[in-house]
This record gives sequence, structure tokens and C-alpha cells, in this order.
Amino acid sequence: MSDSSEKQIIFRAAPGDALSGRIRVPGDKSISHRSIMLGALAEGVTEVSGFLEGEDNLATLEAFRAMGVRIEGPADGQVTIHGVGMHGLRAPAKSLYLGNSGTSMRLLSGLMAAQGFDVEMGGDASLSTRPMKRVTDPLRLMGAVVETSEKGTPPLKVKGGQRLKGIDYPMPMASAQVKSCLLLAGLYAEGHTCVSEPAPTRDHTERMLTGFGYPVERSGGKVCVQGGGKLSAAPIDVPADISSATFFMVGAAIAAGSDIVLEHVGINPTRIGVINILRLMGAGLELLNERAVGGEPVADIRVRAGKLKGIRIPEDQVPLAIDEFPALFVAAACAEGETVLTGAEELRVKESDRIQVMADGLVALGIDARATPDGIVIQGGTLGSGRVDSHGDHRIAMSFAMAALRATGPITITDCANVDTSFPGFVDLARKAGLDLVAEADR
Ligand code: S3P
Repeated sequence: MSDSSEKQIIFRAAPGDALSGRIRVPGDKSISHRSIMLGALAEGVTEVSGFLEGEDNLATLEAFRAMGVRIEGPADGQVTIHGVGMHGLRAPAKSLYLGNSGTSMRLLSGLMAAQGFDVEMGGDASLSTRPMKRVTDPLRLMGAVVETSEKGTPPLKVKGGQRLKGIDYPMPMASAQVKSCLLLAGLYAEGHTCVSEPAPTRDHTERMLTGFGYPVERSGGKVCVQGGGKLSAAPIDVPADISSATFFMVGAAIAAGSDIVLEHVGINPTRIGVINILRLMGAGLELLNERAVGGEPVADIRVRAGKLKGIRIPEDQVPLAIDEFPALFVAAACAEGETVLTGAEELRVKESDRIQVMADGLVALGIDARATPDGIVIQGGTLGSGRVDSHGDHRIAMSFAMAALRATGPITITDCANVDTSFPGFVDLARKAGLDLVAEADR
């Protein structure tokens, strides 16, 4: 359940259409968060375009305003951040409310651990159940003083005025949030802070630090920063979010007659698991007009409907497609044969338990889907009509909306208000592309 009981939203999606045309989905969530954080700490003025005006990113933006940073916008994706320098943040008057946003809380915990003031951070019902020990354990090794609930969940209380020291940390899980948290703390620590990852994860923090003139050493699976440097403001053009484009990629791949172009999508190699997996399943997907924009690769992605086949998803693709699995499970339900995912236990601690919630939803629509401890087994079949509960998880809601394109009858999805956390305007854009979708207040 999402927190905001006064704005319960239900989606009703009707079957039978195809997706077509050219659309641009909103800006990348991960890059938008980082643009505010680094822009705030930089010297000079950072101009951001293509900023995602989703609730998660607005939570980050408001947190920095509350710490004294002057930020203009967002207006049509434009944000102007008047950087205060590495040591210019001020104590917020009250606890920082970060809504549904795990990225805000985990990245901020690293930054806050190094400030001269105390901070408390909390969030909604979902964020309040998410594991924070993965950041608090290594931060404590650096000398941070930070408290969580007994279960290791928010609220987080960070005590300021600590002197941090660099560590050499082998991450137990492949997490860009943990890596970024430690690198941000490392900007303030004495000596080197190094993080080794068990598998490549998104590297937007490293790229943006470099773009802001901060030296980052990378070799193999290890990334290091030396504390005590400074950031210089640089313009940021945020590409469209491949995680948001995914719903349309899957929708077009499963709906007969579809042919859609998704414009200006970020195709950072650490994010393209969805493209690799859909191609392995036989989807007709082309990258057009590949180019680089401000240190991030971008392309237009053309997707045409095709016949999909079930596959065993290579485990090395899991961190590269971590947010795309709800939609990929819908593709698997429409494929011929069996799809098996393993090595994806991280999905159980996202905005919802994405393995269980997706398995339940697919079963409610007549698909043979079996959750396993670290993945799922899905037999391709016929998606029927039915009602599924998104459990307040934005990506689950949007995935089942797309499922309607191939269903034999309408699909109703409950608890959809959180779609606004990552994809404001989803319903209008999906309708424009050809999906018969309406959002209603749930009474
Ligand atoms: C994110 C990293 C991923 C991802 C999340 C955004 C980021 O989480 O699921 O939506 O911006 O760093 P993990 O790093 O915990 O896998």
C-alpha cells in the first residue's frame, strides 16, 4: 500500500491495441538525483535539462533546498542549482522526508555522514521497510555515527561532526546505491575510499563526478576517490530513462502490429540489460542515431512486435536490468516456452517484493508463474482478464498496464499513485502511443 490514502489511484487497461509513433519518455531518475546532489556541492551554477520531475527526484531536490541550497525550477525539465561548495550545506530545520525514494536515502546517508550537523531522514511505508544496513555498516567502518530502527530500516539518524576515514570495501551485493553512498562519503574522508563490486552496476555517479572535475580512479571492478577535492559546476543534459522506456519496449514487443521509436534514451552499458535480454528473447529492437550527451551514451530505440521465446536469463545481466524485471516478466508471460530467472534476490527488497508481487499478479491473470527464493519461473501462456494489486510499486503498475496489450480482457490494477514517483504523465504518454488506459480515483 502507498502512504497517500487520500489519493488511491486505479488503472484500467483494455486489450487489443498496438503501440506506434515516436515518443520521448521522461528523464533518467538516477542521473536526475545525482545532478541535484553534485550540483548542490559544486562551486558555480549547474544548469540541468531533461530533469525528471518525479516525486522521488523532487524529494531529493527539496532535501537540498531544506539544507540551504538555492534551486530554481523544475520548469519543463530545467533546473538551476546554485552550488554551495563541499562545505556549504546547512542544518535542515526538520527531518528530511524522502517519500518512496531508496536512492535519495542511501546516497544522502553517505553525504550526511560527513557534514557538520545532525540529520534525520524518513520516508513512506515502503521506504520504511527497506534495508539500510547495507549502507550503515560500511559507513560506520568509515567512522560515521548513524542509527536506524532495530531492524536496520529507516528512519535514519546521522550525527554530524565526525571525521571520516577512507576504507577499501568489497560490496557484498551488486548495488549502485551502496557504491554511490560510499563514494560520496569518500569525497570528505581522509585518504582513499575504494569500493569493489561483485558485478558491474550503474556508474552514473562516477561519470558525473568526472564531469564535475573530480578525479575518479577505476580499474576492473574497483572504483576509488581521494577525499578533500572539489566539484566544479557543469551543465547536465539528462537522457530519457531506459527504465521508463522499458514499458514501451515490452509493450511494443508483445503487441502485434506495433512499431515504436523511443527517443533520446540513455544506453549506458551498465543499464542495457533490458535490451540484451529482449534481444535474447527474439525481440526486434534497433538502436538508431547513437551519440554521446554529456558523458552518457544515448540512442533512439525502435521496437517492433515479434514472436518472443522463453529463455534462461544470464545472471550477468541481472544488475544491468535490475529495475526492468517486472516488465520483462510480462514479456516472458507472452513468450513461447519457459523463462527462468535466478540470482535476482535483490528484487525482493525493492519498492515491493517484486518477485512475489509479480508472480501473484501473473497468476491472477492465468499465467503459470512460480516465485523462487532468488528469481522466478514463468511459462508463456495466454494473459487473461483480471485485477492485480501493484502494492504501491510504480514499476509493477506500469508493467501490468502494458500486459493488457496482449490480454484477452481488461486488466484492473490497484494502488497506482506511486507511478508519479518515476514516470509522471505515464497514462497520457501510453494513451498517445496507443494503449487504452485510464486512471481513476479508487473509492
Ligand atoms: C539506483 C540503483 C539501483 C536501482 C534503483 C536506482 C541508483 O538500486 O534499483 O532504482 O540510482 O543508484 P541498487 O543499487 O540498490 O540495486
